[in-house]
Amino acid sequence: MDAKQIAGEKAAEYVKDEMVVGLGTGSTVYWTIVKLGQLVKNGLKMKGVPTSTKTEELARSLGIPLIDINNAKKIDLAIDGADEVDAEFNLIKGGGGALLREKMIASLAERFLVVVDETKCVKTLGSFPLPVEIVPFGWQMTRNRIDGLGCESKLRTAGRAPYITDNGNFILDCGFDEIHDANGLNLELNRIPGVVENGLFVNMTDAIVIGRNRGKVEE
Ligand code: 5RP
Repeated sequence: MDAKQIAGEKAAEYVKDEMVVGLGTGSTVYWTIVKLGQLVKNGLKMKGVPTSTKTEELARSLGIPLIDINNAKKIDLAIDGADEVDAEFNLIKGGGGALLREKMIASLAERFLVVVDETKCVKTLGSFPLPVEIVPFGWQMTRNRIDGLGCESKLRTAGRAPYITDNGNFILDCGFDEIHDANGLNLELNRIPGVVENGLFVNMTDAIVIGRNRGKVEE
């Protein structure tokens, strides 16, 4: 079993009867969702709030009951992957393009559980280019302002066209190399008109499950 699968499946153990659960996006939390599908078939009573259309389709195909975010009185637990995790459990997310809904749902959840394989753990955030979701209108101007914060950004593409998020926006992947003040950068980015949200998740993580190779898991 690979490290992503180990971590993903372990996280499903945190889901208890009657919980409303934020369902993240990506190839690690995929295994959590698959496991939850099996548990639901065996009688687990839960409802999911998906963070992307991809996750929504997966959860539906597995028979997991879903609830619209606007109708969820509360979200007990959100489970999601990450592209990088530092020692304070701050994250870079958005490699899969779902960072806006992921951040909304994580911020609404009473507990936010992150599932990663060991390769995601870093000393300093920033080797993974930081995804920033921006509105298409005037995007090159927004990009110039973001680059002014000290990065080199690239417009994410799908084939020859810009990649479009579930919310109809673009994504810039921003190479900062090393991010020493994640909180400050998060605030600065979100102050730029045209920026919808960025992939820094600061002080949001409550717990982490790390899948290690050779079948080990750390909580
Ligand atoms: C999607 C994300 C993912 O959680 C992140 O990219 C990690 O994905 P994976 O588990 O496939 O490595 O933020 O927007």
